Amino acid sequence: MYCHQAIENKLGTFILSKSQIANLAECFRKSMLNRLNGSESSLKMLPAFLDKPTGEERGRYIAVDFGGSKIRLLIVHLKGHREYEITKEHTFLLKDPHNRYNFTTASTTGSELFAFIVSQIADFIDDNSIYPLGHTFSFPTLQRSSNDAILIKWTKEIKTSGVEGLNVTDIFKTALLERKYHQIIPKVIINDTTGTLLTSSYNDPNTDLGSICGTGHNTCYFESDYAAFTNSKIINIESGNFNELPYTEYDNILDINSDMPGEQRLEKMVGGKYIGELFRIIVESFMKGKLLFKNCQLDAFSEPYLISSQQVSIILEDISSDLNSIKMWLMSMGIDSLLEDRLALRLISSRTAMRAGQLVAATYIGILTHIDPGLLNQHIIAIDGSVYEHLALFADTLRSTLNCVLGNKAKLVSLKLTKDGSGIGAAIGAAMNT
Ligand code: BGC
Repeated sequence: MYCHQAIENKLGTFILSKSQIANLAECFRKSMLNRLNGSESSLKMLPAFLDKPTGEERGRYIAVDFGGSKIRLLIVHLKGHREYEITKEHTFLLKDPHNRYNFTTASTTGSELFAFIVSQIADFIDDNSIYPLGHTFSFPTLQRSSNDAILIKWTKEIKTSGVEGLNVTDIFKTALLERKYHQIIPKVIINDTTGTLLTSSYNDPNTDLGSICGTGHNTCYFESDYAAFTNSKIINIESGNFNELPYTEYDNILDINSDMPGEQRLEKMVGGKYIGELFRIIVESFMKGKLLFKNCQLDAFSEPYLISSQQVSIILEDISSDLNSIKMWLMSMGIDSLLEDRLALRLISSRTAMRAGQLVAATYIGILTHIDPGLLNQHIIAIDGSVYEHLALFADTLRSTLNCVLGNKAKLVSLKLTKDGSGIGAAIGAAMNT
């Protein structure tokens, strides 16, 4: 059999049918309901204790956007009339590229990590004004109010010790006090999905879902029926942990070898941290099965997390007849390829990116069906993140999957790129609590 066909067959299970997607959506909706009703579910459904903004919140706030090893500081000016402006910003890394420091490993503590963040804030602020602070903390947390949060578990690349199970706001406040930094006053702590939802609804009240499709993945939404039960309108689903999915053998290899086997199963199929790794695992397995690069050493793709999601995107964007940029990339790795090999790499990339779009669409359909069973109203889904913005085929597949499954009703659903939503939303949340 021609190799490419054998590869097509092996990747067959990657593309889901309309009925599979509809079933997944229904399964996701039921999992939401299970947790809301107090039963077991892989979805955490965490209340954020925040309501819809009015669009008239005003003032100047500092936002600390902590979603991974890169932290952003912003000064956000909320002007009312649904307008805002970022007047200053600074990005810094928790892990020095030259290895002089690393606050993301288990050998550093939460106190050291937050002392470092406070030192960066001190350098960032150049006046003595009082700044209410909004903190975006993009990890699963248990909240008793909108201004305190207990970290349930780190996800993504952070492993700092002395934070899991503890109150993150307290650790942050202690670090501010130790530095005698009384002008910075923490007012709110939110998830990045909540930030995205708040930012988009500040601008347009029709927004009812906020989602991140970036290194990690998650979605939150405005709940109306269960608000009395949770005392919160915004519910952070922690949808990246959804685990009733059609796994392939490659997903299982990725999961077993990950830092947290069995957890964040959806995130491991759609998150930017994992898309490249999934691609690598498939390529490695095809090489072992002699379906790819027959003349090349078997270990060329053996290093875990060698391939980034950006590389997968570059592969997808090569539309030259001989796939020249893929050829050059492989040559830089010492691999001599045939056109047939490069076509196979494109196929693996496209199947991985398209499946990610389909799975995320299924979760959105599940949530929309929960909040509006007959799908009678307009809905805006605010989305931010590198996968949505840059991974070729992802956003298009997301849209086309909604169209395919929802038919005519799909025109009621808009997808809105909400850049910087996670940080701006922290300022809006701080204003709502001030
Ligand atoms: C975290 C979520 C977060 C998402 C996107 C996931 O790993 O558990 O809390 O919203 O990443 O950053």
